Amino acid sequence: MDLQTQLEDLKTATLEKISATKELAEVEKIRVETLGKKGPITEVLRGMKDLSAEERPKVGAFANQIRDLLTEAIEEKKTVLNQVALEAALAKETIDVTLPGKQISQGSRHVLTQIMEEIEDTFVGMGYQIIEGNEVETDHYNFERMNLPKDHPARDMQDTFYLSDDLLLRTHTSPVQARTMEDHDFSKGALRMISPGKVFRRDTDDATHSHQFHQIEGLVIDKGITMADLKGTLETMLKTLFGEDRNVRLRPSYFPFTEPSVEVDVSCFKCGGKGCNVCKYTGWIEILGAGMVHPNVLEMSGIDPTIYSGFAFGLGPDRIAMLRYGVNDIRNFYLNDVRFLEQFKGE
Ligand code: PHE
Repeated sequence: MDLQTQLEDLKTATLEKISATKELAEVEKIRVETLGKKGPITEVLRGMKDLSAEERPKVGAFANQIRDLLTEAIEEKKTVLNQVALEAALAKETIDVTLPGKQISQGSRHVLTQIMEEIEDTFVGMGYQIIEGNEVETDHYNFERMNLPKDHPARDMQDTFYLSDDLLLRTHTSPVQARTMEDHDFSKGALRMISPGKVFRRDTDDATHSHQFHQIEGLVIDKGITMADLKGTLETMLKTLFGEDRNVRLRPSYFPFTEPSVEVDVSCFKCGGKGCNVCKYTGWIEILGAGMVHPNVLEMSGIDPTIYSGFAFGLGPDRIAMLRYGVNDIRNFYLNDVRFLEQFKGE
């Protein structure tokens, strides 16, 4: 068989192989086998030296032509197969944008945080500053400076957790009063502050008691502050919190750090004062403790009680939240059960 026929057969056989295959790797194999250094075309071109001067250019040109034709056929096949592979990959990875999305649940501020921020806003609007105190306090500030010396029987009402003989977890936010009073520069004006935060008591946890809860302390000191200021301030706050048509009443009470002292009731926001299960059929709900700052407390903080006077109050956001939302177990606030918390998602 002459070289030309050999080349012709090679061409036909290779083109058949190329068109038959569906694998890229197979195409590459065909290329190496046919056009590679050890392949038949190279062989033919190498053998040309034995041909006559007349035949050489003819066969050479024919061999080159077939090599080019096969190279082109191989490249074309590769392009086609690459395209097929790409289309398959795209089909597999296609995103169906019409599928319904996954519902991502969004968190929100804790119900107690919401109530505290609401109360803070009310007081900031009345010109109060917000002061954060320490959760770990000294016996000195938590008790002594609040007119509760070491042997005072009222200490029994507020037993707590001690870190040492002198360090304890504060039982109320009142120590922030002492810390703020002693730092205040009265030449710059009245002292008006509230202090929200956690407090602790050595209580056994049950539906209405928790060893940890919250308070918001309020304190105003200036020349000429009276009970009327206290009553007006609390009325404003309680009406903002519970509604304009609430009534507020003060009942005599006792706290070592205020004199006189009062418990403050608000008319029941469920029954409006007629009597129901929320107000235990009294028409009133006890909401906070308050009073005029005791002269001893002023004096211990370096304030002259013959010139200055003031009022203080302490309220419990946990209790307010329980009353407002009908939560009957305080422990719910501290379990962080999302099913409970998500009922209070703010706007
Ligand atoms: N500290 C008091 C308590 O925890 C509340 C209170 C604060 C009462 C300020 C009067 C004035 O019971």
